[in-house]
Amino acid sequence: MTSQPRDILVTSALPYANAPLHLGHMLEQVQTDIWVRFQKSRGHHCLYVCADDAHGTAIMLSAEQAGRSPEDHIDTVREDHLRDSTGFLIAFDNYYSTHSEENRHWSGEIFSRLEAGGHIGLREIVQAFDPEKGLFLADRFIKGTCPRCKTPDQYGDNCEACGATYSPSDLIDPVSALSGATPEDRASTHLFFHLAHFQDLLTAWTQGEHLQPAIRNKLREWIDAGLQDWDISRDAPYFGFEIPGHPGKYFYVWLDAPIGYIASSQDYCRREGEDFDRWWQPGHSTELYHFIGKDIVNFHGLFWPAMLQAAGLRLPTAIYAHGFLTVDGTKMSKSRGTFIRASTYLEHLDPEYLRYYFAAKLGSGVDDFDLNLSDFIQRVNSDLVGKVVNIASRCAGFLRKKFDNQMSADCAEPELVQQFIAAGEGIADLYEAREFSRAMREIIALADRANQYVDDRKPWVMAKEEGREQEVQAVCSVGINLFRALATYLKPVLPAMVGRAEIFLNINLDWQQLQQPLLGHTLQDFKPLLQRVDPAQVEAMVEAGKS
Ligand code: 2FM
Ligand code: ZN
Repeated sequence: MTSQPRDILVTSALPYANAPLHLGHMLEQVQTDIWVRFQKSRGHHCLYVCADDAHGTAIMLSAEQAGRSPEDHIDTVREDHLRDSTGFLIAFDNYYSTHSEENRHWSGEIFSRLEAGGHIGLREIVQAFDPEKGLFLADRFIKGTCPRCKTPDQYGDNCEACGATYSPSDLIDPVSALSGATPEDRASTHLFFHLAHFQDLLTAWTQGEHLQPAIRNKLREWIDAGLQDWDISRDAPYFGFEIPGHPGKYFYVWLDAPIGYIASSQDYCRREGEDFDRWWQPGHSTELYHFIGKDIVNFHGLFWPAMLQAAGLRLPTAIYAHGFLTVDGTKMSKSRGTFIRASTYLEHLDPEYLRYYFAAKLGSGVDDFDLNLSDFIQRVNSDLVGKVVNIASRCAGFLRKKFDNQMSADCAEPELVQQFIAAGEGIADLYEAREFSRAMREIIALADRANQYVDDRKPWVMAKEEGREQEVQAVCSVGINLFRALATYLKPVLPAMVGRAEIFLNINLDWQQLQQPLLGHTLQDFKPLLQRVDPAQVEAMVEAGKS
């Protein structure tokens, strides 16, 4: 068992407040939640904070489309996000918003420290401007005819038809995707963060044990290619925070988004009466981990450590990136019904099926994750229902009918039970290393052994023979003790199912209390712990995704 309790702050990426959560978000949140629940189950003080990422032009426009003020819009979307995450049993300690007073404070404060340190510069840039909407257009809001193959209606800076890449100003007859107006070139002054000032820091930091090898290599390539100034301002109208001392200029959404991690933890600490400084000031023994998708490693592995360093705050202990989610081998697609919203999944299927499937295939690397729907059905039914739950259900029946739910006073197989308990440390190491698939494989291999034990002893045969009652009770009690160990190890992945197992076992399952087998213990009546996945429900979900 681990010795000293650790203080661990964990985040997952802040979802944008303009669209519903989909299964790609859930992959990340489930991965994070399993790790956090594991840390808590080991007795550590672990906080999981997140928030909605509420700023930017896209959110301003989607509010306009929804006929709501940005403030109302982000509140509504945040509620939806929280409902979906809760549906997937994500146990945030705090779920906040980047549009908060704490975030305004810290964004201003960190910016002032960057400015005072000489890390901010002003530069005039020329950008496309929509004269009808009265706003500057990001590349994705401009469309026109491809300069190479002449296909009309191509967005931004690349052609979907011929694959050409170009600057939006090269488009033939460019128009604003928002209003249809012809964009004009307009100059405006932007604020830039001189990332290159942190070249040495970032070179050293990316060498350390803070990153997965594939991410470390990618970041090193970027650093070696030369770090460019980062444009951190946007002009009005923009939904965000105005930059202190720079009227009419707003923080680019990606400047204040990661600061939302600080704001959310501050809100948590205020509410719970906890010391906030020890999480973000340097010199404390607290740990800080960011779980993110591999598409945003530049923000978390370069800009963010540089900002924190410049502001005199602590740096992350590690950044853990995951790959993209594909469904049946391809990118999620609305027409195939594989662009699956979290809420659509929840209308049809138990969240723990997917939590288990994610765990069963997730490693510590950045490979993409394929949700193969037939494999999903097969894995959950075979591993969880056919193996894990089966141990409890086949033993519980005999104990209830013949022994009034009473387990034996002695352990008939102390060595076997001891082996299951001893396996816990190796499984814990795998959880710690985010090698969840290997942890699940170990657990399922133990489940096979437990079922084999019951198969070999055949309590259903003994039960029919005179004078062998004690043996039936002894074998089934061993089976229940083996199940108890497996349920304990699965608790971070399947909190609800294991919650039902705890009611049946009449005990709280906890890694620390596993050392002694249950002897002479009284169980509750067994109730089904998990239904099989019904393939018709999976089909119904895919159909619903198409509409
Ligand atoms: O990529 C995204 O969805 C961003 N909203 C993630 C922000 S993470 C953090 F930096 F806030
Ligand atoms: Zn083209």
